[in-house]
This record gives sequence, C-alpha cells and structure tokens, in this order.
Amino acid sequence: MEIIRIPSIMREIAKDLIIKGKSIGFVPTMGALHEGHLSLIKRARDENDYTVVSIFVNPTQFVQGEDYDRYPRDVEGDKEKIEKIGIDYIFLPDVTSLYPHGYSTYVTVESLSDKLCGKFRPGHFRGVATILCKFFNIIKPTRAYFGQKDYQQALIVKRMVEDLNFGIEIIICPTIRENDGLAISSRNLYLSDEERKASIIIYQALKKGEQLLKEGVNPSEVSLKMKEILENEPLVSEIQYTGVFDPFRLDELREKQDKYLLAIAVKIGDTRLIDNIIIE
Ligand code: PAF
Repeated sequence: MEIIRIPSIMREIAKDLIIKGKSIGFVPTMGALHEGHLSLIKRARDENDYTVVSIFVNPTQFVQGEDYDRYPRDVEGDKEKIEKIGIDYIFLPDVTSLYPHGYSTYVTVESLSDKLCGKFRPGHFRGVATILCKFFNIIKPTRAYFGQKDYQQALIVKRMVEDLNFGIEIIICPTIRENDGLAISSRNLYLSDEERKASIIIYQALKKGEQLLKEGVNPSEVSLKMKEILENEPLVSEIQYTGVFDPFRLDELREKQDKYLLAIAVKIGDTRLIDNIIIE
C-alpha cells in the first residue's frame, strides 16, 4: 500500500492505471475510520482492480462555528485499518496542496443543496461538491463509494456526476449500525455515555415511521408522530428536521407515493446526528 500526498503524483498514477485499462475504485473519507468506512473500502477493493482511499478533512464543507478544528483525526490508526483490508493507495493531501493561496473555484449543485441538511449548514454541500470534483479529476475513478447515512450527499454527488459528465459510477452502500440501531458515525465519539444511550431514539423514530407508513398511515401524520417521539427524549436538544420526504427531490411529503425517504437530523446535547431509511 502506498501513501500519496501530492495531487499531481496521484494524478499520474491514476492516468497510468487507466492507460493500462484498469478499473479504479475510490472511497473518499475524512478519516477517523469506522466500520461504515471499512465496509465501503472492502466493497471498492472487491469490485475494482485498484482502490484509492482519500483521507482529507475538507475545510470548505465546515460551516462557520462547526467542528473543523476538533473533528476526530487519527491518521496512524486509519493507515493500520486500511492496510489490513489490503488496498493500493491512500491519498493524503494537505490543505494547501488542494486549496492554495488564491483558490477561487467552487461547485454548487443547485436546489438539492438547499434542502434538509443544507438549510442548517449553508455552504456545506458546495464544499462537498467542490472537493469531490477535485478528487474525481485527480483520481478519475471508475466507481466511487458513499454510505447511505449521508443520503443527501450521495444524491447530490450523483446529480453532479451526471450534470458534469464525469462518467463515474456512484455506488451507495447500506448504513452500518451499532447493535442498538445507532448509525455508525465519526461524530458518535463526541457523545457522553448518557447521550449515547439517548441517541437510539433516532433509529426508533425512523422504525416507527416505517411501521406506520407500511400500515398505510398518511405521510404527514407519520412525520408528526416521528417528531413527537424525538420531542419526548429530554437529551434531544434540537430537532432540525424529521419526517417523510421524496427520495429524489427531498421535499416533505403529505401524500402517499411509491418510495419514501424517512430522515432525521437532531442535536443530542451539542452533537449533530443524522440518519435515514428508504422505504419502497
Ligand atoms: O462524507 C464525508 O466524509 C465527506 O463529506 C467526503 C465525501 C469525504 C467529502 O469531504
């Protein structure tokens, strides 16, 4: 496994692999790798000739006042975990190599970026789309892998790849959960023991929503019920959104349809957590 820090070297390696007709699987991460990331990396390894994992805490996707400085970083631990899986390259650029002095180009995926998480993190998806656009240009992957936990992110990336003719297959992999249902996330590390216990309310609200929808209850009533469940947990300090949404446009649904996105973003104490499930 090789560690590449310089974008132009990474690009040369990728170019070479493409000339040789090899497929490249790409898993972008911000490090602090957990089982969710590892499942994406294993899948990329199994489905491609070569696999590249990037580790980069991207400053442009953190909104002012967010946790950029204290975002968990553990590059040595990450390298060990990736090495065990057996992939080819870790791309580990530093901030100035990707955003040098004078950097001024950003990518915005309109409409989808302003909804759900975008309302509460203005500019977040612009940062995500920009860094992924740069990674896609450098690594030129055949396939790129994303977790369903960040469903809106994956939808935005799919849109961008289609709109900008990248020709990359975007693969959305299932959310990996703890035994009690909590979606695994790097930010779970911020939770105190009490908050960790309380956080299972998110999955419980989603499952209740699923059950009600399957029983034929109207989406707007399901959304209210999910909100009520979250409101009854004292450690939920803020409900940013909760309910039943259209899985393609991300608008809240009032009427029944074939496919639903049940999604939640809440703060437990100071920690912002998101989760979702899709129902066909
Ligand atoms: O999901 C993440 O960890 C980040 O948003 C990503 C895709 C690595 C871009 O910085």
